[in-house]
Amino acid sequence: MTPKPCVRGTGSSSDCLAWLQAQTTKSIDLILTDPPYGLNVAGTGKFRSNNRAFSPSSWDTSRPSRNYFNEMRRISHNQIIWGGNYFADFLPPSRCWIAWWKNDRLPRLNFADCELAWTSFDRPAYVYNCRWRSSVRDSKESLYPHPTQKPLAVMRWCVEQFTEPDALIADPFLGTGTTAVAATALGRRCIGIESDREYFDIAARRLSALPCF
Ligand SMILES: C[S@@+](CC[C@H](N)C(=O)[O-])C[C@H]1O[C@@H](n2cnc3c(N)ncnc32)[C@H](O)[C@@H]1O
Repeated sequence: MTPKPCVRGTGSSSDCLAWLQAQTTKSIDLILTDPPYGLNVAGTGKFRSNNRAFSPSSWDTSRPSRNYFNEMRRISHNQIIWGGNYFADFLPPSRCWIAWWKNDRLPRLNFADCELAWTSFDRPAYVYNCRWRSSVRDSKESLYPHPTQKPLAVMRWCVEQFTEPDALIADPFLGTGTTAVAATALGRRCIGIESDREYFDIAARRLSALPCF
C-alpha cells in the first residue's frame, strides 16, 4: 500500500516574536497554539496533578505581551489559542470558544474541569471531551517531560474540525510538539517555534517517529 503523503513540519528553537514579525500578512491558514498562561506551573519542577518531576523552568512566569497576539492575528487567516481566558484582554470578542472538558468525575477541587480556547471562527461554541489525569487518559500517547503537554486527541480534533487537508498550520509556542504531530499525522503542513531547546528536541523526535516521515 502506498503511504499517505505528508509534509515535514519545520521548526526553530527561538523566541517566536521575531519569527512572527518576519511573516507576511495572512500567509498561514491557522495558528493553533497554547502560549504560557503566566501561572508559573513550570517553576517548581513538579506538575501538581500527579507530582511528576520536571526541570524547573521560568517560561511560565508571565504571559506573552499583546504584541504576540496582534502578530499571530496579522499573519494568519484564523487562530485557535488555548488558555484564551488568560488572554481575553488581548483578543476581540468571539462566539466560538472551545471547551476541552477533562473532568474524570473524581474530586479535584484545585484543578480546572476544563480548558478554554479562544478562536477567531464565526461558528458556534464547542465542547470536546477528553479525560486527562494520571492514568485516566483518553488520549493514549506517551507523556513527555513537559508540565503542560496537551492531549494529542484535542489537537487532532482542532485540526480536523477547523482546517482543510492542504492547510498550513503554525504553532509559535510548540512545547513538545503536540500541534505539529497532530497536523502532520493528518497530512497538513506545520511550522513550530519553541524557545526551550529540550522541548524543541522532544518535538523533533516525536515528529520523526511518525510513520509518514
Ligand atoms: C503551554 S506550553 C505548550 C505545550 C504544548 N502544547 C505541548 O503539548 O507540549 C508553552 C510553550 O511555549 C514556550 N515558549 C514560551 N515563550 C516562548 C516564546 N517567546 N517563543 C517561543 N516559545 C515560547 C515554552 O517553553 C513552552 O514550552
